Amino acid sequence: MPTKLLYFSKAYQQTATAKVIQVLRDGPQTGIILDQTLFYPQGGGQPADQGSIIAELGNLAVSHVSYNGGEVLHKGKLVGEVKEGETVTLEVFWPLRYQHMQQHTAGHIVDQAVKNVLPESKSIDGNHGISKRMYIEFSTEVSAVAVSKIQTAVNEIVESAVPITSEMVSYEELVRRQIKLPFDLPKNKELRIVQIGKYPAMPDGGTQLSGTGESWPITIVGVDLKESSWRVIYSLTAPGKTAQLEVPEPEKTKEKAEKATLSLSKLRERIADLKAQLSFEQTTGEERKTKYLGKKGYFNELAQVMKNLEAADRKEAGQLLNDVKTYLEKQLQRHLQEQAQNQVAAWVDLSIPGVKPVVGHMHPVSQAMEEITQIFERIGFTRVRYPEVDWDHYVFEALNMPPNHPARDEWETFFVEAPIDKKLGKVVLTTHTSNGQVHEMERLNSTPPIRMVNIGRCYRRQQDATHTQMFHQFEGLVVDKGINIQHLKGTLDYFAQEFYGPGTKSRIRPFHFQFTEPSFEVDFSCHICGGTGVLNPEGNHPAKAYWSKNSNEKQPEAETKCKFCKSGWHEVGGAGMVHPNVLKAGGIDPEVYTGFAFGWGIERTYTLKPGLNIDDIRLIYGGDLRFLEQF
Ligand code: PHE
Repeated sequence: MPTKLLYFSKAYQQTATAKVIQVLRDGPQTGIILDQTLFYPQGGGQPADQGSIIAELGNLAVSHVSYNGGEVLHKGKLVGEVKEGETVTLEVFWPLRYQHMQQHTAGHIVDQAVKNVLPESKSIDGNHGISKRMYIEFSTEVSAVAVSKIQTAVNEIVESAVPITSEMVSYEELVRRQIKLPFDLPKNKELRIVQIGKYPAMPDGGTQLSGTGESWPITIVGVDLKESSWRVIYSLTAPGKTAQLEVPEPEKTKEKAEKATLSLSKLRERIADLKAQLSFEQTTGEERKTKYLGKKGYFNELAQVMKNLEAADRKEAGQLLNDVKTYLEKQLQRHLQEQAQNQVAAWVDLSIPGVKPVVGHMHPVSQAMEEITQIFERIGFTRVRYPEVDWDHYVFEALNMPPNHPARDEWETFFVEAPIDKKLGKVVLTTHTSNGQVHEMERLNSTPPIRMVNIGRCYRRQQDATHTQMFHQFEGLVVDKGINIQHLKGTLDYFAQEFYGPGTKSRIRPFHFQFTEPSFEVDFSCHICGGTGVLNPEGNHPAKAYWSKNSNEKQPEAETKCKFCKSGWHEVGGAGMVHPNVLKAGGIDPEVYTGFAFGWGIERTYTLKPGLNIDDIRLIYGGDLRFLEQF
């Protein structure tokens, strides 16, 4: 339901009542929609109003007001509570609103003055205080030479003290009166127009002074040439002040508003606070009596307000105070009764909902590690973990990469400053989990069968959107009699289905690693285009599911390339048949046994999961809870 805009016709009204239509929570902020409002929502170059919305048991310090499809949303900090359906009092913080009116009307006066000096000029925009510089923007040239003439024209309009009027008219009426529109406006609704004296009327939604005579002195500061428009900049001087009024901060506004209205509304607010406070009060009966009804107690302090009130408000305030006193006495009595009944020293309201403790969860990478472990354990693999700071021997040499072998360049290695071991060589940060292969052979006394999955941290000198210096890998190793490529391919297919979902396939392509022969690169089919590389909507295409989930994206008519993979496949890592030299290094006879191995990064494998859409891998280690809590 559209909010009725009271300020349209009553720019000088500072308080009103309204009915609460909706209360919305937004973190520490509360939003209120009313059936009618005095608060001006930001728009048309005029800033939003501030002030208070006072309910029976609460008070919203309005710090921002916005207009959204006919509804005005009042936002701010709420003390106490506001109920939907209740009647509330609106209090616009007047010093600020009046300043906005000054600024807005001044804009219209400047606009008119420029048109008086340059009859052909066309204004297209304005700013009446949303940012520090106020201006009217013209699409026609305004030369700086004209500034003094414009100033004179402004002064004339102000001194002539003509009235400013507004009315609601239909679109036909606008056309009939030949009122120029700066831009297209809806034709089916009534529009508000504003007229300064006898000058041409113009459409306007803001609040205006009642006449130009009320305007503070306006100074034309200068003309600014923007790309193809001219801004006539103006400033205002409040009477008795040399500088422009500061727009108060919302919080300060609240304080000032409180001072300015140390009155009935203040009293109501304090009563609301008191009632809220009482429901949490933990004191015993005696303590309460002194605290609230004692000589120096809360009630007597509250009653002091009477002194500050104007005569007209005293009657109502007296009534309010009487009610509070009765309320406090009743509360105290009830409290004492309950105390006696329960024989409990402190009064605890068991109906108050408890505070839910924050419970964390496993980091997404730990979750992935857990899932990968379970997938391989189901087919008889044993999860192991080998050192992340290891000897060169296990990381390179035993993997058929003797010192100075060029293949080592692939792994941008961090070396650790530590004594070199005669047999095992330097100490390095593991660059891949393949170091676990020979460790595992040794652990099992070189006696197959071996079915290991080694999950651990790896380190490489690299950092960008798809690489972090520290990352995780998992490594599979199977050694037994008669192991061949089919076993490898079967295992990869199994993993693809389990981890990425049914229908996912694996693909191996020839490659080179020193520690496997033959070697392969491993790809998984893209779950979005089903491994086809195109997002083609026809037939039973798997991309159908994608388009139905992303219904806000337009489904292309013709065949389009998949946005998530290049060719239908995602490359994830390496694999191959264990090189005889590696088996030998682990003390296993390559004439009797064969094996396969595979390994790749967990972060990358994980971010490819359907629906995750993580395009920067570094987010995973950013420690930002807003990101991590999503998993
Ligand atoms: N360790 C290799 C890498 O980090 C991957 C790999 C593992 C290749 C096992 C073959 C066999 O790139």
